[in-house]
Amino acid sequence: MTTLRSRIIGTGSYLPKKVLTNADLASRVNTSDDWIVKRTGIRQRHVAAEGERTSDLGVAAARAALKAAGVDAAAGEVDLIVVATTTPDETFPATAARIQAMLGMTNGAAFDVQAVCAGFVFALSVADRFITTGGARTVLVIGAETYSNILDWSDRGTCVLFGDGAGAVVLRAEAGTGGADDLGILSTHLRTDGRHHDLLYVDGGVSSTRTTGHLRMRGPDVFRHAVTMLADVAQQALDTNGMAADEVDWLVPHQANLRIIDAAARKLAMPMERVVVTVDRHANTSAASVPLALDEAVRDGRIRPGQVVLMEALGGGFSWGAALARW
Ligand code: ACO
Repeated sequence: MTTLRSRIIGTGSYLPKKVLTNADLASRVNTSDDWIVKRTGIRQRHVAAEGERTSDLGVAAARAALKAAGVDAAAGEVDLIVVATTTPDETFPATAARIQAMLGMTNGAAFDVQAVCAGFVFALSVADRFITTGGARTVLVIGAETYSNILDWSDRGTCVLFGDGAGAVVLRAEAGTGGADDLGILSTHLRTDGRHHDLLYVDGGVSSTRTTGHLRMRGPDVFRHAVTMLADVAQQALDTNGMAADEVDWLVPHQANLRIIDAAARKLAMPMERVVVTVDRHANTSAASVPLALDEAVRDGRIRPGQVVLMEALGGGFSWGAALARW
């Protein structure tokens, strides 16, 4: 039986030039490089310049992904843009609409999805459903964030954990058989449990305080839930496709904390040699972390055509999800 699959035909990423090391943070709050590295694996993060918006990061990643895919957005070759972000330029319109204009694209549609750190997996799932139901042929999916704008820089428990950045992929409809041997996205799995709001949220917003607010987190509680939830949803992706963990070539997890990545990989029996890690250099870039890690591993030749890639992410909400793809 012929079926439509979403093939990832290009990846791209962008990191702001300014780097903030752990030592830089230790000069602002009561922390140390040793504490941050031991508890999180993070050594540095990139931070957007004054005036550098989420759309600026997103469009740079998009341009790199479009170039890699050989797709011209200004020539009408993209049907849809889905941007995952929790730090939009403005309350409205969508950051995706601004990126669409920056790319010179006047056709199709563009909108944002908001699932915090799970945002890229949610956006990928939306895009995959547009493609596999025939609603779009070529889709640009972007994860872009400037968390530096919502951090409380006096709170050592959160300000050391996050960074700014963007990653993007271009998806193209291709014929498949419906089996796990197909190239492209094999399945996506999304979950939300809003009862966990108080563990991770921003204490501001349009209809509550009419301010932007700051990120608040009960770190150890997030940690405890994250490991189980991520392993569960990743296992669901494997089971759906009749695959075992040893058939996965690369695990590309959300980059929140090296200890969470390590514990979730251990639950899946995935050795760390097959896990893509960028958290040491990027910190947690929320919706941008998975596409940033994907792009790095594609460009340095680790992820190769035909290989199986498992993506997983969890964030505020809680919202979490996994996507299994054959490259
Ligand atoms: N530097 C030095 N000490 C610190 C720092 C810091 N930056 N932050 C906290 N501490 C102190 C605490 O005050 C506490 O001190 P106390 O014992 O005197 O009270 C001590 O270190 C231990 O604090 P814990 O919070 O228990 O430390 P833990 O080992 O749990 O590590 C961490 C904290 C790194 C936040 C961990 O819980 C974690 O990574 N949790 C998951 C967070 C996460 O990934 N969030 C993102 C989710 S995705 C999203 O949607 C945004």
